[in-house]
Amino acid sequence: MGVGLDIQGDVAEAVAQAATPNALCRFAIRTYGCQMNVHDTEKLTNLLLHEGYSPVADEEQADLLVINTCSIREKAENQLYSDLGKLREWKARQPGRILGVGGCVAQQEGQTVLRRFKHLDFLFGTHNLRVVPAMLRAAAQGERLSRTEETRSLKRFDFPERHPAYTGLQPSRAYLTVMEGCDMFCSYCIVPKTRGREISRPAESILAEARHLAEQGIEELILLGQTVNAYGRHDVKRGRTESVGTMSFAALLGRLAEIPGINQLRYTSPHPLFFDDELIEAHRDIEALCPHVHLPLQSGSDSILESMKRRYSVRDYLEIVTNLRRVRPDINISTDVIVGFPGEQEDDFEATLAVMREAAFVDSFSFKYSERPDTTALDLSGAVAPSVMQERLERLQDVQRELTLRAHGSRIGDETLVRLEGESRKGQGQWRGRDPYHRVVNLDVPANNEIYAPGTRVAVEIVDATPHSLIGELKDRLNTGYLAGNLAQELLTIV
Ligand code: 5AD
Ligand code: SF4
Repeated sequence: MGVGLDIQGDVAEAVAQAATPNALCRFAIRTYGCQMNVHDTEKLTNLLLHEGYSPVADEEQADLLVINTCSIREKAENQLYSDLGKLREWKARQPGRILGVGGCVAQQEGQTVLRRFKHLDFLFGTHNLRVVPAMLRAAAQGERLSRTEETRSLKRFDFPERHPAYTGLQPSRAYLTVMEGCDMFCSYCIVPKTRGREISRPAESILAEARHLAEQGIEELILLGQTVNAYGRHDVKRGRTESVGTMSFAALLGRLAEIPGINQLRYTSPHPLFFDDELIEAHRDIEALCPHVHLPLQSGSDSILESMKRRYSVRDYLEIVTNLRRVRPDINISTDVIVGFPGEQEDDFEATLAVMREAAFVDSFSFKYSERPDTTALDLSGAVAPSVMQERLERLQDVQRELTLRAHGSRIGDETLVRLEGESRKGQGQWRGRDPYHRVVNLDVPANNEIYAPGTRVAVEIVDATPHSLIGELKDRLNTGYLAGNLAQELLTIV
């Protein structure tokens, strides 16, 4: 039995001799956190399918359970410890079960977690997804391994093509990693520690994956990166894009939009500092680029932005909003805001509310500041009392509700395209989908009609609005123009 050593060198080699895993092994993955984590889970699922494992929805049926963790706030990190405590019984109920932990907490805490939880079999960091199959073989032999070292190798972007049995989370939409890591070191944020240094993936590798996805029926790509629009910035600055194989982010968007079959492009999350004119113009020139940008603001007070080390002012931020609206008047902008950052006074908070109104955000994710290990904000004075944080969060969310309702109300009468996702929570023939602005649209869809499948885009008129979603009505029951391939041709002939 191993003792939780962090193996240096290649785990794949170290465990190559181990027996192959049981081909009937069933696995489940619990995922916490952001889209990058969701996409890491997708990558891991695909890897495990290639290894002969099969996914199960019910953890009770699983022989292997992986927890893909998030550590952005303390509460997310604590979730892991609570899960692991409860999973002692899961593990004991069936001998031979394997339990693994990956993601940001694994990267942050490393072997400490393996030492503390004896029923945990293996642990892997955010750069080590590719070695999980090898670690599993070792775990099946009773080894307890952890692998968390950071790599700058571009191989970290290489994953096998989608396994025939792989079904993405959403038909016709897919995540696509373009860069990873973050070099910004905002004073509150643990991400530079958990995801490592910024690195851009070669454009040819991104385009090849996009082409392959398009051939498999993917129409919408969601480009992912911790500071996604920083893509290629170092190479552009040093004039070495050709030798390194990157390009500017806006140029990458242009190339992706040229791929036959790709009709919608989104990206998350951009940083205001890298929102250059070329990217603004891309929103004017690239038809496939959706008229929605999620642009984290964090605070509407210059002095707080400075102590957050965000490297832009409120004026810089609002200038981006104005320029985006100039080129795309209908654009929807959403944001992230932190309340209760150390030193935040009532007038700083009120400045945030004022910026929210001025930017007229369609939506926002708001968080109470949470202290994270090894971040420079820990040295700041002026802690805000929990009750004040709570009160500010509620006030901010009230303002957002009002802004969202106003934005939604202004959409009534609009005609838009909605990509169907599936039945809405309400069920009873009601479906839910998303429009190009990333708003949820609920609508009635005729039952047992193969035209209306998840992933299809349909023409819709917005007829009503709530603070959470829009209500739509199908415009054109056949929607032939929006159907792909033969079915569209067939219907066009009939019509
Ligand atoms: N406390 C609270 N919120 C945080 N975020 C990042 N770090 C912290 C923290 N320490 C928020 C930011 C970021 C979003 C993903 O999470 O708003 O944009
Ligand atoms: Fe965290 Fe700032 Fe990097 Fe975003 S830009 S991941 S908030 S350090």
